[in-house]
Amino acid sequence: MAKKTYTELVSSLGRNAESDECYTPVDQVLPLLPYLNKDKTYYEATSGISSNILDGFTKWGYSIVGSNGRDFFTCEHNDVYDGIITNPPYSLKDKFFRHCYDLGKPFALLLPVASFQGGARGKMFMEYGMSALVYNNRVDFTGKGNPTFGNAWFMWGFDTMPPNTIHWVDNPKIGEKIEFREITTVDTLFDM
Ligand SMILES: C[S@@+](CC[C@H](N)C(=O)[O-])C[C@H]1O[C@@H](n2cnc3c(N)ncnc32)[C@H](O)[C@@H]1O
Repeated sequence: MAKKTYTELVSSLGRNAESDECYTPVDQVLPLLPYLNKDKTYYEATSGISSNILDGFTKWGYSIVGSNGRDFFTCEHNDVYDGIITNPPYSLKDKFFRHCYDLGKPFALLLPVASFQGGARGKMFMEYGMSALVYNNRVDFTGKGNPTFGNAWFMWGFDTMPPNTIHWVDNPKIGEKIEFREITTVDTLFDM
């Protein structure tokens, strides 16, 4: 079988059931936490089957409520607590962005970096703004090693991340074990 180019791979991963069920490894939530507020409560909008993001937040002492099977598109402004944190199904990313913007609460969506660009999505970013926390190391969502694409948290509405800003971070490498550590600010993350 002919080898797929990077673009073909990401594009095919964006449209199949397998990529829609990529669970976020627990420690991969760590770089996002300093951008959040420990006194607030967040909403994991797609925790119906897996709760890895919930486990990560619990591990590091941050407050988050799972969707418990609720369809995200039925959520209204008051249902999503202080903001949305999730790894949405890649095939529905445009609809997730649209609904997040409509809800008007801060949101962080973990998606392939290729999601920066694209017809309807790009227009939304131009109109409302988009910031990102780019992961320097690829994330092994399947546990099989050799991840084929990089990820970023697409962030909007957080005080810690000005509009249309990009930050880069050394997220945990594959196989790296992160022990518990109190995190209070972005700065405390970088001397890990
Ligand atoms: C990429 S997985 C991420 C799972 C989990 N958030 C995590 O990061 O570990 C996306 C999940 O979204 C769920 N999902 C699909 N459509 C949804 C919707 N409209 N509302 C809520 N969850 C949905 C799927 O069942 C799937 O488990």
